[in-house]
Amino acid sequence: MVSQIEKVIGRRVWDSRGWPTVEVEIRLASGAMGRALAPAGASTGSAEAVDLRDGGPRFRGKDVTKAVRAVEAEIARDLRGMDATDQAAVDAALVALDGTPNKSRIGGNAIVATSMAVAHAAAASAGVPLWKYLAGGRAVHLPLPEIQIFGGGAHAGRRIDVQDFMVIAVGASNYTEALDWTAEVYHSAGQLMSDAGLLAGVADEGGFWPLFQNNSEALDMLMRAIERAGFRPGEQVAISLDIAASQFGSGGRYRLGLEKRELDSAAMSEMLLDWLRRYPIVAIEDPLAEDDAAGIAAFTQQTKNVAVVGDDFLATNAARIRSAAAAGACNTALIKPNQIGTLTETKAAFDAAVEAHWGTIVSARSGETEDATIVHLAVGWGAPMLKVGSFTRSERMVKWNEGLRIAEALGGKGELPPRKAFPWDKGPWAK
Ligand code: PGA
Ligand code: ZN
Repeated sequence: MVSQIEKVIGRRVWDSRGWPTVEVEIRLASGAMGRALAPAGASTGSAEAVDLRDGGPRFRGKDVTKAVRAVEAEIARDLRGMDATDQAAVDAALVALDGTPNKSRIGGNAIVATSMAVAHAAAASAGVPLWKYLAGGRAVHLPLPEIQIFGGGAHAGRRIDVQDFMVIAVGASNYTEALDWTAEVYHSAGQLMSDAGLLAGVADEGGFWPLFQNNSEALDMLMRAIERAGFRPGEQVAISLDIAASQFGSGGRYRLGLEKRELDSAAMSEMLLDWLRRYPIVAIEDPLAEDDAAGIAAFTQQTKNVAVVGDDFLATNAARIRSAAAAGACNTALIKPNQIGTLTETKAAFDAAVEAHWGTIVSARSGETEDATIVHLAVGWGAPMLKVGSFTRSERMVKWNEGLRIAEALGGKGELPPRKAFPWDKGPWAK
């Protein structure tokens, strides 16, 4: 069998924040090779798969020698001889080998890198790119990019509460144009920040470091950046936010650091609804904390034509997505493979969202690498949107650029899902 796994190599490499991470290489009998790297979050949800770290003094406890050793020993032992094209069997073996509900024994980082590397090896063995291998003959489109301009929250020393101030080029006619427009907005924002004496480098995902007095000042600056770049806010380029509310709220209390205010769930919700009324915001992620399901449901019910996205709240978990959908909490799932561990479980979460007539956004983490697997997942599975951070730094650009290559392979500039598929164009989330 040419697609039989012969060799599993684990390697400690480095991520975009300069912390260790896990790389896995899979070699098949055919000679085909697949490689993948584990990303890492900073504002992680409590329901996520465990990112296994060594602890101790080395690299502030963040070394990954235990996870790498698990790849080289146990994972290699169990996967050798298996068929790389049987992703479900490989992933089931990884889940069984770990044996814990949250992948804490051999590590979600070891597991996700292995699972993705196996998919790459299988695609290489079939002689096709991963997106094509996953699409299996279905027509595909490029995902609409959601791109960070200002980074806050846990990615910027909590300088402002809101974690991501992003733009979505809702009026762009293709993927290439969406990137072109976002580049203009990003650089306009940088110029405006510089003119105002507010330019202070960039946050973890490459968005500008937010020297603002409060959250709405950042929104005003974003509006000006869109206009200065020559676009009509809302119509051509809209705003999206990741509130990442679990970072500053729990037990129904939300503490806004800069403004020194504490809000209850209803007041927090009202503040966000007020922003939705005042600014052309088309998507809002984790508006309330992961432990505030009732608040998220109440918020979702009060919005219209907006993508309400669950990240920490859903943790790329099919069961959590199904119960959130039943409760009317959110209408869009953020899909991060390392939140759940294997590609099979990630796809199950994706399918649960599609079944609920929700949207999906395939997403990177704040700690990233040169790995562009998620772009292939977004295209191959048919996700309407992709979120990988800002529009600078190569661990981000490697993803946007991979999309351009896929667009070219498809013979164009990257056809996007039909506009009416998105909630802000008053359409339901379509498949
Ligand atoms: P993380 O944040 O990768 O640091 O968890 C990204 C997000 O909240 O979307
Ligand atoms: Zn998030």
